[in-house]
Amino acid sequence: MVEIADVDIHQIVELRRRVLRANDESAQVIVASDHEKGCFHLGITEDDCVVACVSAFALPCPDVASTNSWQFRFMAVDASHQGHGLGRALMTRLLAELRGRGADVAWANGRDTAQGFYEAMGFTIVEGSAHLSPETGLPHHRIYVAVTTEGETVHG
Ligand SMILES: CC(C)(COP(=O)(O)OP(=O)(O)OC[C@H]1O[C@@H](n2cnc3c(N)ncnc32)[C@H](O)[C@@H]1OP(=O)(O)O)[C@@H](O)C(=O)NCCC(=O)NCCS
Repeated sequence: MVEIADVDIHQIVELRRRVLRANDESAQVIVASDHEKGCFHLGITEDDCVVACVSAFALPCPDVASTNSWQFRFMAVDASHQGHGLGRALMTRLLAELRGRGADVAWANGRDTAQGFYEAMGFTIVEGSAHLSPETGLPHHRIYVAVTTEGETVHG
């Protein structure tokens, strides 16, 4: 059973850098969205180190009508821990947290290399949303999922 808890930004900057920025010391890993009102960070900690993290903040979803949608960013599982269910556990918790905040939609700009993960988690990949991340240059699509009621469908 993994323990998932709120973490501070300073606890996850190195994980973000390592997993999402190829350990680039010059990469900007604290961004404007980290200062958005209500932004929170969740982490899975092992031996005093955060090995998985994700951050979320309220922002309208460009693709579906919603009254309370949240974008998440910097979803990362340490390379040595990938493929063991931590990502699923963290995303399940994130969606529960958002449900508790009255959210109806969660969305992100998802890396194409992680699409299989997001599909496994029930996300819709937005057709025609292909773009290169301005920060990494990597191919992304927007993705979204309904969070108000489990199993509910949101129409684009
Ligand atoms: C993508 C990532 C967050 C997934 O976390 P994880 O702990 O490795 O994934 P899990 O082991 O919880 O896998 C959950 C499900 O997704 C599937 N999955 C995970 N990564 C996948 C991938 N890259 N492609 C296809 N399917 C994938 C698993 O097979 C599993 O399916 P199942 O539960 O139906 O068997 C993690 O691998 C990661 O940090 N990758 C590098 C950074 C990254 O791409 N982050 C996302 C940025 S948008």
